[in-house]
Amino acid sequence: MLQALMNLLSLCLKPFGHGRSSSNSDSNLESFVGVSKEGKDGLLWYRDVGRYWSGEFSMAVVQANQVIEDQSQIESGPFGTFVGVYDGHGGPEAARFVCDHLFRHFQAISAETHGVVTSETIQRAFCATEEGFTNLVSELWSSRPQMATVGSCCLVGVIYQQTLFVANLGDSRVVLGKKVGNTGGIAAIQLSTEHNANLEVIRHELKNLHPNDPQIVVLKHGVWRVKGIIQVSRSIGDVYMKHARFNREPINAKFRLPEPMDKSILSANPTIISHPLHPNDSFLVFASDGLWEHLSNEKVVDIVHSNPRAGSAKRLVKAALQEAARKREMRYSDLKKIDKKVRRHFHDDITVIVLFLNHDLISKSKSAAQTPPVSIRSAH
Ligand SMILES: *[C@@H]1O[C@H](CO)[C@@H](O)[C@H](O)[C@H]1NC(C)=O
Repeated sequence: MLQALMNLLSLCLKPFGHGRSSSNSDSNLESFVGVSKEGKDGLLWYRDVGRYWSGEFSMAVVQANQVIEDQSQIESGPFGTFVGVYDGHGGPEAARFVCDHLFRHFQAISAETHGVVTSETIQRAFCATEEGFTNLVSELWSSRPQMATVGSCCLVGVIYQQTLFVANLGDSRVVLGKKVGNTGGIAAIQLSTEHNANLEVIRHELKNLHPNDPQIVVLKHGVWRVKGIIQVSRSIGDVYMKHARFNREPINAKFRLPEPMDKSILSANPTIISHPLHPNDSFLVFASDGLWEHLSNEKVVDIVHSNPRAGSAKRLVKAALQEAARKREMRYSDLKKIDKKVRRHFHDDITVIVLFLNHDLISKSKSAAQTPPVSIRSAH
């Protein structure tokens, strides 16, 4: 009841899609770009095109849940560029927490290392965020114990000098569009590793980590789930699957394990890769699972490549919705009329951020003096 009231309040106080988009740096960006169109169309919010430190971006989000569970951000300035896509589950709180804290930790840790970004500094930012969230759950345990059962996938891309770092927990994904051959072809290269029990390699990993637990992954209604409960094996939050002290009453019985938990089942340790940017690396598409559920990597890269840059992210969201409608043999125009919550039966919240890479700017590292810092958050 309290939860429902808080959700309602947060909906009223923070209308979808308005986030910090009226902040100062953002309106500077607006006047600089001139044509950056931001708008709303029903449950869809979009930013057609904007400029960040190393090129242009496009961003779009469609809501399906009663309270949106996806959060995302672009932070860009002389330090480089930080993109985050956070796909929450069980409620919006963990994804919001990540959006509020992960980049700040990243900034604080980068300050300690004199601005140098490495896999380790990114890892430390994830770790600090997980720790902060776990502390919050402890504090709220007597008043809001259900905080123990919310979590968030967490996909981060950092462009630092001429290197792209990708850190991932859960099943969001980033795909690179890369020019190949001399006939204008483009390849779709997935850069993130996913952690979803639907993947055989993840089931294998879980069985290896928990050799004495035959029930570590369970096929339930055609979907593989960790302990028969949750699809992702790594996340921020979901502390009921990480610490025995939270796996007890009063959390909902469906989250309580029948046997004592002797070690953490889910992990908050991201898979991190570093990718030296090549002049042929054309653009990056970061998106939550809701997009990839309906569109292949190749299709996504093809859509971005064969259309104007402006509106790329919105175009991808629409293509996914059209596919979701087609699967249900209904018209896109009818799907669009379905309100949030009921929408969730047709598709998930979907977040898309496309970063176009301008290698002149990337190689100069700190040129583009006229580009103001960017700090954008899709929705609260
Ligand atoms: C880079 O792109 C050019 C033009 O599309 C192509 O000829 C070349 O083979 C590409 N190089 C690599 C390493 O992919």
